[in-house]
Amino acid sequence: MADWDALPKLASSRRITVNLNNVTSAPARITTVTTDSKIFIAVAATGVVVLLMASVLVPISLALTYTGPFTTTSLSSITTTTDTTTTTTTTTDTTTTTTTDALSECSSYTTINDVTRLTTAGSGSGCDTAVFNSTTACVRFSGAGGTQLATSAPASNQCTTQAPGWYSGSLPGSGVSNNETVCYAWSLNNCKWSNTIQVTNCGSFYVWGLISPPVCNLRYCTA
Ligand SMILES: *[C@@H]1O[C@H](CO)[C@@H](O)[C@H](O)[C@H]1NC(C)=O
Ligand SMILES: *[C@@H]1O[C@H](CO)[C@@H](O)[C@H](O)[C@H]1NC(C)=O
Repeated sequence: MADWDALPKLASSRRITVNLNNVTSAPARITTVTTDSKIFIAVAATGVVVLLMASVLVPISLALTYTGPFTTTSLSSITTTTDTTTTTTTTTDTTTTTTTDALSECSSYTTINDVTRLTTAGSGSGCDTAVFNSTTACVRFSGAGGTQLATSAPASNQCTTQAPGWYSGSLPGSGVSNNETVCYAWSLNNCKWSNTIQVTNCGSFYVWGLISPPVCNLRYCTA
């Protein structure tokens, strides 16, 4: 009973009694891992990690690059962008319309179609003190009687009056309203009398805010 290796070890032996005081050698313990084993373990572990990563990354990659009929992310992004652009355009149109509508004179005016107001009409005694007063009246000239006030000085005794009135200011741009001077030409003076009127550019036509001229016989003339 002096040597462990020499002890009889039977498979059928359920209990072996050993007096450790008598044991002089013990079975060899595995105290070192061989280099070959380390390499094997490293390769095997690496393989497992690679397989795990692949099992996660490949499906994700396929899902992200998928462009088939069930794609939702990319298509919904494009749709949202298009909606935003459409909304912006609509807002711009609405703003433009509102700006035009904000000029009340563009939607509420009196239309005058009077060929006797044309600068080509001859002399007369028409006087606009009988037509306008100190309260501004919004007028749109239209038709054969001309579409706007004359913008250059007519000769005296035209436009069925003695001193024809003409617009001496610059015309405003679309959607803009200006206060400018109307001059009345008499003899050699193109601006013998004058008064201020308001003119509004309503896009396709002008609306004129007219008041009574200072004296008679003065008249607004058209061209
Ligand atoms: C000015 O004339 C308008 C019609 O063009 C009339 O309705 C208004 O009552 C007049 N105002 C005055 C102060 O006479
Ligand atoms: C034009 O004059 C009226 C008053 O007569 C004023 O209410 C309006 O603001 C003036 N417009 C401009 C562009 O100066």
